Amino acid sequence: MPGIENGLVIRHNQISDDMYEIEFISPKIAPLCQPGQFIHVKPGVYNQPLLRRPLSLCDVDKKLGSITLLYKRVGEGTDMLTRVRTKDYLDVMGPLGQGFSLPGSGKNVVLVGGGVGIAPLVYLARVLKEQHCQVKVFHGMENRRQLAAFEKFRAIGIDFLPATMDGSAGFKGLVTDLLWKKINPTEIDYVYTCGPEPMMAAVADYCREYGLPGEVSLEEYMACGVGACLGCARKLKPEDEYYVKVCHDGPVFNMQDVCLYKK
Ligand code: FES
Repeated sequence: MPGIENGLVIRHNQISDDMYEIEFISPKIAPLCQPGQFIHVKPGVYNQPLLRRPLSLCDVDKKLGSITLLYKRVGEGTDMLTRVRTKDYLDVMGPLGQGFSLPGSGKNVVLVGGGVGIAPLVYLARVLKEQHCQVKVFHGMENRRQLAAFEKFRAIGIDFLPATMDGSAGFKGLVTDLLWKKINPTEIDYVYTCGPEPMMAAVADYCREYGLPGEVSLEEYMACGVGACLGCARKLKPEDEYYVKVCHDGPVFNMQDVCLYKK
């Protein structure tokens, strides 16, 4: 059952031009969290704006009872969140949604993130590593200033392969081109992806080509976050009769069940 609590902020840093990392103590919610779930945050310490913002769990320390979020400043809500300071209390609700399934001990797993879509893959990588999986992370971004997650994966002991559009770090070009070049598909058991939908569509093409199973984490506009407003309703495939609620039935779905769009 999701809960609501006021989390004590213990760390809040700007880590690149428009990316921030915030960690808060959340003793009721943190123990319940699973990779791929999200929480709904009231972005200010005051009551405006009223709507919460959905943010993926980037990392969870269950011993400390803390949750870390990695977010990009994109609008009024996240701009307000940047002004929250250490020792403030953050009003959070969660954990929400259905997270990633885990493939089992010792599997070879590939994670593909685009931009700030890398955030939920950090916590996933940590849990996969604990399950003795061999994990490779591919991260696509505009330039090296967005390499925010690199140190996190290195600290967990995960192979990290960056791709930048301007060539300022790692491979120059699309992360999905790097995926095709670098990985022998016969050595992969499972693929997870999160980021811009065209990137995830290209990852799904790769998986379809080689018959690989995987999961995607979808992004939709979310108002309530708990399945009540229909703001995030979407058909997974055009021919489907029913809509799913991304906040409640997802945000993680089996890759084969979703039609992803390249534009
Ligand atoms: Fe309200 Fe999903 S955000 S139903």
